[in-house]
Amino acid sequence: MKFPLTITVLLLGVIGNAWADESGIAIGQARQASLALGKTLKQELVSAMKRGGPVEAISVCNLKAMPLTEQISTETGWQVARTSLKVRNPANSPDDWERHQLQQFQARLDAGESMASLEAATTEQRDGKSVQRFMKAIPVQGPCLVCHGTELAPAVAQKLDSLYPNDQARGYQLGELRGAFTLERVISGE
Ligand code: HEC
Repeated sequence: MKFPLTITVLLLGVIGNAWADESGIAIGQARQASLALGKTLKQELVSAMKRGGPVEAISVCNLKAMPLTEQISTETGWQVARTSLKVRNPANSPDDWERHQLQQFQARLDAGESMASLEAATTEQRDGKSVQRFMKAIPVQGPCLVCHGTELAPAVAQKLDSLYPNDQARGYQLGELRGAFTLERVISGE
């Protein structure tokens, strides 16, 4: 699974060089990294569910994401995480900017914008450093419903209950906004 992601991120560098400014290149990388990660995670989940069933696959949404995001971070300098207005793992809770953007994503979706166009970017000052941030919406797709839908298999529900006693990430329908990839990188500082 490492190979396609590496190719994608490498390609970005090439495409990025044609772009005008450095910040635009970085946003392009962040966008492509989000797309690559979304695709790879979905593939990993589907194959893990085929291999060992959904209960076995529960760790994939969490554990598999880590090496992938580390790889992206090494290749692009962007730190990647996931967040949502309704989190399963409280460690993924949004900060103020992320919460606001997630609310905007929902409002934009309700107003007829496509899921694929839901992105946000900003640069903020933090501890004397400039930090560039980027978010990209994550839709609920078919395989996600096994663990985030309305009718979970009892064994899945039981396992999730034991791992995530405050789970809010259930009851989703196909095509809804699940959350977002959230990326950041330090661009300057002393
Ligand atoms: C086999 C069960 C399973 C499937 C299938 C699954 N997830 Fe998850 N998902 C989880 C678990 C478990 C977590 C908590 C991970 C953690 O501890 O960080 C999670 C967390 C997330 C988060 C992070 C925010 C949060 O709620 O903590 C997002 C976003 C997410 N999933 C999206 C998806 C999407 C999109 C799909 C479909 C492509 C999907 N998941 C399919 C089990 C699953």
